[in-house]
Parts: sequence; C-alpha cells; structure tokens
Amino acid sequence: MRQSIISRSTWSNRWAFILVTIGSSVGLGNIWKFPYMTGSQGGSAFVLIYLLSILLIGLPLLIAEILIGRRGGGNPVAAMLDTAEESGGSAWWGLVGWAGMIGALLILSYYSVVAGWIVDYLCKALTGFRVETAEAARSSFEALMDNPLRMSLWHTVFLTMTVGVVARGVVSGIEIANKIMMPGLFLILVLLTLWGWKAGDMSAAWHFMFDFRVGEVTPDVILAAVGHAFFSLSLGMGAIMAYGSYLDKKSSIVHTSLWVVAAGTLVGLLAGLAIFSLTFRHGLEPTAGAGLILQTLPLAFSHMPGGGVFSILFFLLVLFAAWTSAISLVEPFVAWLTENQDIRRSVAAWGTWLAVWILGLGVCLSLNRWADYRLFGLNLFDGLDFLTSRIMMPLSGLAIAIFVGWVMRRAAVEEEIQLRGKAFSAWYHVLRTLVPLAIALVFFHALR
Ligand code: TRP
Repeated sequence: MRQSIISRSTWSNRWAFILVTIGSSVGLGNIWKFPYMTGSQGGSAFVLIYLLSILLIGLPLLIAEILIGRRGGGNPVAAMLDTAEESGGSAWWGLVGWAGMIGALLILSYYSVVAGWIVDYLCKALTGFRVETAEAARSSFEALMDNPLRMSLWHTVFLTMTVGVVARGVVSGIEIANKIMMPGLFLILVLLTLWGWKAGDMSAAWHFMFDFRVGEVTPDVILAAVGHAFFSLSLGMGAIMAYGSYLDKKSSIVHTSLWVVAAGTLVGLLAGLAIFSLTFRHGLEPTAGAGLILQTLPLAFSHMPGGGVFSILFFLLVLFAAWTSAISLVEPFVAWLTENQDIRRSVAAWGTWLAVWILGLGVCLSLNRWADYRLFGLNLFDGLDFLTSRIMMPLSGLAIAIFVGWVMRRAAVEEEIQLRGKAFSAWYHVLRTLVPLAIALVFFHALR
C-alpha cells in the first residue's frame, strides 16, 4: 500500500462527512437554477420528476462514487487505479479520475466568476445599495458585466477564499469551513423563508412551485431534470470521490447519501419559496438565473421594510452555498498533487489557484471584450459550461456506473457498501441498467 494512503486524514466523524458532502452539493445550482426550473416547468410535476431522477439516478450514482473513493482510499486517479486493479480491470480506468479532476477545475474557473458577482452584490448590500426601478436594477447589473476589471477582482477574491480553505487541510480547512458555513446557511434559509411568509406572497410562491401542471412537462423538461440532478449532486467530477476517500470504514455510505440527497432537495425547495414569495409580492416576473438573483430580487428587497438586512443575509446565503461547493472542486486535484507528486499541500493549492485564476480571467473577458470570440457559437463562459455539464459530467457518470456495476467484483462492492438482501440487489440492478441507459439518453439528447 502506498505510504501516503496510510497517513491520510479522515473526517472527524460521519456527520462531518455528511456536512461537507451537503456543502459540495448545495451550491449555485440549488439557488440559482432549481427554483426557476421548477416554477416554469410544471411546478410539483417537475418536483416529482426531479425527485424520481434524484432517487433512481442521482442517489445510486452518489453511492457508487463515494464507494470508489473509500475503497481506493486515495485521490480520484489513485482510487480509480487501485479499485480497477483489485478487480482485474484495465489501467485505462484511471482516465475517469483524470477527467474528474480536470473537469472540476474547468467548472471552478467559471463558478468562481459567478460567485464573484455574488461577492460584489454582497458588498453592495452591506453598503446600503438600493435600486428603485427595474431599469436601475438592470443597468447596475450590466455595469458589472461590462467591467472585466471589477469582475476579475471579485473572481480573484473568491478564488483566494476558496483555495485558502483547501490549503489549510482536509480537517482543519475543509471540515471546519463547512461546520461554520453550513449551519449558517440553513439558519439564514429558514429566516428568509419565514420572512417571505410574513412579508411576501407565500401563497403565490406555493402555487408557482407546487401546483401540478403536467401540461408544462415535455421530454426536454424530463431530461433537464435528470441533468440538474447530476449537477446538483456534484456527480462525476471526482469531488465526491475525493471526499469519500477520507471517510472511515465504519460509516454507512447509503445512510450518508440519503442525508445528502434530502438536504439538497430541501434547500432548493425552501430557496424557491423564499425567493418567489418576495418576487410575487411586488408583482415582478419570475425570471431565471442572474436576472432573478441579481436584478429582480434586489429590486424586491429595495421596496420592503427590513429589505436591507435581508438582502445582506440573502447574498451571504448564496456565498456560503457557492463557497462550500467551490472548495470541493479544488480538493481532487490538490489531493493528487500532494499524494502522487509529493508536493506540499499549500504549494499544491496555490499552484492550482494560479491555473484556475488565469482561466477565470479569460471567462471574465469572454463576457465583454472577448464576447465575439466564439467556438461552435459559444463564448468561453458558455463553452466551459457546455463542455463540463453536458459532456464531461454525463460521460464520467456513465463510466462510474459501468465501473462499479460491471467491472468491480461484486464481492468488493458488497463488502464496501455494507448493504444486504433486497436493498443491495435493488441498488445494484438500477446502477447496472437504468443509470447507464438514462445517462446515455440525456447525453445524446443534449448533443442534438
Ligand atoms: N453541486 C454544485 C451546485 O449545485 C456544483 C458543484 C460543486 C459541482 N461541486 C461539483 C458540480 C462537482 C459538479 C461536480 O452548484
């Protein structure tokens, strides 16, 4: 056994692992994307489809990815190689670890830019920023989009905050950061939801999110739900594998996975209720993404008593969500550098910072000065998003399902998962058949 594997750290306990994995999973995806997808694509019909994709595809795959990490007990490349070797599989499987590590850094390069916008708006909120009209909200957002210098500055700040945590170590950096931020995130979310209930139009938000509008569900919507289940659970990019590699042998993988899935879904739903109760209270249109979070909401906050305080809390919530996710995108590569290249963790972390920082600068510029440089019609920002979430994540997920379902010896899988009887066969069958089929379907649809 490799020296580095013997001396590796482990999370303080099972709950620490659950917390950091929820931290990875709950991110911009849950707050930026999920509420609007739900409201505009079928309400509770979408929620139902999303829950099914989470349970039938996301959960089995989450379990499989943690399982590889813990069985291999090393960074994603080492974990793939060791588990493949144990079952007589090819060394080519190491590529899955590579794809994950690289993919995670690519995601981070644009994730950090978007998170930087959040830091910008948090600072605005702290200095009492108000927008009176929709026009003003739009122009202040556009001012940021047109200013690559300002954007790069916030990207630098956010990336430094993220890498600073990872540089401190697995337990004294990543675990502690999550132990502070995740309870904070939940507390703020509950406060915001209560405030939305008191001061907003909760009943309109409820109908938007939960009325069963089956007519809005098209095949595209179903595929979008599956894709989102994937992104939201941080699957296929080595992040979960790396976190799983620090999990002690006694903890139940299935039990921890259930917690992660439940918490992530709950956050998305609560965020939706909070956000839309404020949106509808002012007769504003529910929109998507940056328009919703950085234009509509600041407008709503500006017109409410107490809006100043709650806008600070809201952007803090989004920052915590993004920060804990970004941390998990750095760890796989840093783990590989420290374990396989014998580089000190701090050096590995700041080297990674440099690579992601440079790519992130390109992303900032691709939204304004370089907007005309396109490949297949996409600028760098959209291109990176497409490459990672439409191509790399599904392909790695597919490989992981096939690997655990068909390549790893069943005895090894059974020993690691500590699940017996019907529950084991159910998970195993779904992983071997339904999961690969569903991912292949989503993948080819996305490329049409
Ligand atoms: N799950 C995060 C979100 O919803 C994004 C994310 C974090 C991620 N780590 C990941 C996506 C690893 C893929 C792989 O915002």
